[in-house]
Amino acid sequence: TLLLLYCFRFHVQSSLGIVEDDIGVSQFPKSFLFGASTSSYQIEGASLEDGKGLSNWDVFSHIPGNVVKDENGDVADDHYHRYLEDIKLMSSLGIKVYRFSISWARILPRGIYGDINPNGVIFYNKIIDNLLLRGIDPFVTIHHNDLPQELEERYGGWLSPLIQRDFVHFAEICFKSFGDRVKYWATINEPNLIADMAFIRGTYPPGHCSPPFGSCHAGNSDVEPLIVMHNMLLSHAKAVQLYRKHFQAKQGGIIGVVAHTFMYEPFRDEEHDRQAVKTALAFVVAWCLDPLVFGEYPAEMRSILGNQLPRFSPEEKSLIKGTLDFIGINHYGTLYAKDCSLSACPLGADRPIRGFVETTGTRDGIPIGNQTGVARFFVVPRGMEKIVDYIKIRYHNMPMYITENGYSSPPKTDVTVRDLLLDFKRIDYHKAYLAALLRAIRKGADVRGYMMWSLLDNFEWASGYDVRFGIYYVDRYTLERTPKLSAFWFSSFLNNTIRTN
Ligand code: NOJ
Repeated sequence: TLLLLYCFRFHVQSSLGIVEDDIGVSQFPKSFLFGASTSSYQIEGASLEDGKGLSNWDVFSHIPGNVVKDENGDVADDHYHRYLEDIKLMSSLGIKVYRFSISWARILPRGIYGDINPNGVIFYNKIIDNLLLRGIDPFVTIHHNDLPQELEERYGGWLSPLIQRDFVHFAEICFKSFGDRVKYWATINEPNLIADMAFIRGTYPPGHCSPPFGSCHAGNSDVEPLIVMHNMLLSHAKAVQLYRKHFQAKQGGIIGVVAHTFMYEPFRDEEHDRQAVKTALAFVVAWCLDPLVFGEYPAEMRSILGNQLPRFSPEEKSLIKGTLDFIGINHYGTLYAKDCSLSACPLGADRPIRGFVETTGTRDGIPIGNQTGVARFFVVPRGMEKIVDYIKIRYHNMPMYITENGYSSPPKTDVTVRDLLLDFKRIDYHKAYLAALLRAIRKGADVRGYMMWSLLDNFEWASGYDVRFGIYYVDRYTLERTPKLSAFWFSSFLNNTIRTN
């Protein structure tokens, strides 16, 4: 029935109000990789099984009030036990690449202060081997939010430079154990979002924040995000240098980082707000990428933050510069940027940063796009073309992968399973964003892959399980997986059975 409905749907007006030509896989470059993404804490469950240690998310999610409905990842999608079933789903879809992350505390339950957990290594070996058996390439994120709790407790996790040594230790174990079969490595998922969520907004562990995000533990939002970013960038660089020196030639993989990106548009059609767009992109995107390509923080940030922004020593600069083989782009939506260099950034605004504010407000009474299930995600397909253009130009068209792009509808209390399965809006979203990506590729952007977020409904961090991004519906009680209409769409798209204009 779902399939029939889907076919019928082709001739009906788009439900997001975006009408795009039907888009087909054959329009993309031949070697282009299509796939899906997940992360360990969001799907694995088995939080204390087979020797796994506690992660910062295991602890944080168990503190009442930190996650909607006080949910946690103890069981999640139980992927730890159902990985074979999930790999079969991937294979039936026809994806060529699967991006997942390694739980640091499953491999090193106590971080650097203890031994390797052999069961952890066995688990990821089984995943990698079964993916390869089915012709799916593993795309491995070394760190995706879940940090061994012991590192948080001993020295404050990313706040301390000690983490650099520990991250390299963990990365080395990953290269040694899995690198013979893994050809795509991403060191850290969204360092720029971790800094924001964990040290400005306080919604990720360790939950530090300052006004206007005031209801959590005290922190120093001026300095802490800058310090943790510095430590993440140096950790990335040291892991990449190690990979290049000892593994890359033999193993033949590539290594990069995955950046969180928003696109921005001027809130008012005037020069100050156009400038605010540039500032916003520098503070959000280039903050993470400039140092890894050029060895320096963006000039736009330096001119506003001055000496508050850490500096790389000459040795660090040569260590960090040029440490990307590719840029991983996580992109979901676009926000307005509004100048506030002339007037004070209003308190209570979405994100006051020196010189600009990002806002979800309306321009001339018109919102920037449809709101999704995540507070700041607005559906603006042209943003995909623009962000790829921006990264292409700023970083001289280095190879790019869209490592995440996806849609979740706003969580409603009266939603039925049938509604969730008939996810027309998700299909429209992917079609429109893919069409925008294609426009960027046709203008010459070297984008080599697209991984949708996500294969399965999963634990959406502080939003819990009601924010569902999956193309497979996961029943929270039985954990049964059911394809949504979008899974049928993606599979026919991948198998090129969709009419293209
Ligand atoms: C980016 C993050 O990498 C992922 O963990 C999250 O679930 C998605 N965005 C959706 O918010």
